[in-house]
Amino acid sequence: MKYKKTVFLKNGKKCLIRNATGSDSESVYNNFNLTHGQTDFLLSYPDENSFDIEQEREFLVRKEDSDREIELCAVFGDRIVGTAGIEEVGKKYKVRHRAEFGVSVEEDYWGLGIGRALVMAGIECARQAEYLQLELEVVRENLRAFELYRSIGFCEYGYNPKGFCSRNTGWQGLVLMRMELL
Ligand SMILES: CC(C)(COP(=O)(O)OP(=O)(O)OC[C@H]1O[C@@H](n2cnc3c(N)ncnc32)[C@H](O)[C@@H]1OP(=O)(O)O)[C@@H](O)C(=O)NCCC(=O)NCCS
Repeated sequence: MKYKKTVFLKNGKKCLIRNATGSDSESVYNNFNLTHGQTDFLLSYPDENSFDIEQEREFLVRKEDSDREIELCAVFGDRIVGTAGIEEVGKKYKVRHRAEFGVSVEEDYWGLGIGRALVMAGIECARQAEYLQLELEVVRENLRAFELYRSIGFCEYGYNPKGFCSRNTGWQGLVLMRMELL
C-alpha cells in the first residue's frame, strides 16, 4: 500500500508520514535495531532481527506492492525516526476482517506526537484496506503506549499475564486491545 501525509508536531515542526519503500531499507533496518534496543516493551531484541538490509528491502517492496499491508515510516528532517505496520491476521474468510498493528519511535523523538500520527495513519490505511478490526498487544507497564491507544479508541478485551518473558525483568503481561473500524 502507499500512503503520504505531512503532519505538524507539538513543537510546530513538520513530519512526513509515508509508506517506506525499498530504498529506505538501510534507514528502516537501523531504526529497527535502535528502537528495539531502547525499550523492553517490543517483541524482539536487536540481535533477534531476522533480516539483513537486502531482506529488509525485499520486505518493504512486498509491503508497497501489497493491497492489504503497509510499513509506514515517520520522516523528521531527513531521518526516519519511527515506523508502524499493518499486517493481516490471515487470508481465510473468517479472519480476513482482522489486522494487527505495531509501532515504534526513536526515544529522542518521543512526546512530539509522532506515535499518535503513526497510529492515525495506520488506522486510515486499515480502513482503506477494508479491515473491520484493528488489533494489538501492549505490555501492561507500557503506559505511554497504552494511553495513546486508549485515547484513540482502542478497547481492552483481554489480558495474557505471561505474554512476554523479558531478558531483563521476567514475565511481562500483555493487554489485548482492539478497535472496530466501522
Ligand atoms: C509508544 C510510542 C510509540 C509513543 O510514541 P510518541 O511519539 O512518544 O507518542 P506521542 O507523542 O504521539 O503521544 C504519546 C501519548 O502517550 C501518552 N503519554 C505520554 N507520556 C505519557 C506518560 N508518561 N504516561 C502515560 N501516558 C503518556 C499520551 O496519551 C500522549 O498523547 P497526547 O500527549 O497527545 O495526549 C513510543 O513511546 C515508543 O516507540 N515506545 C517504544 C516502543 C513501544 O512501546 N511501542 C508500542 C508497542 S505496543
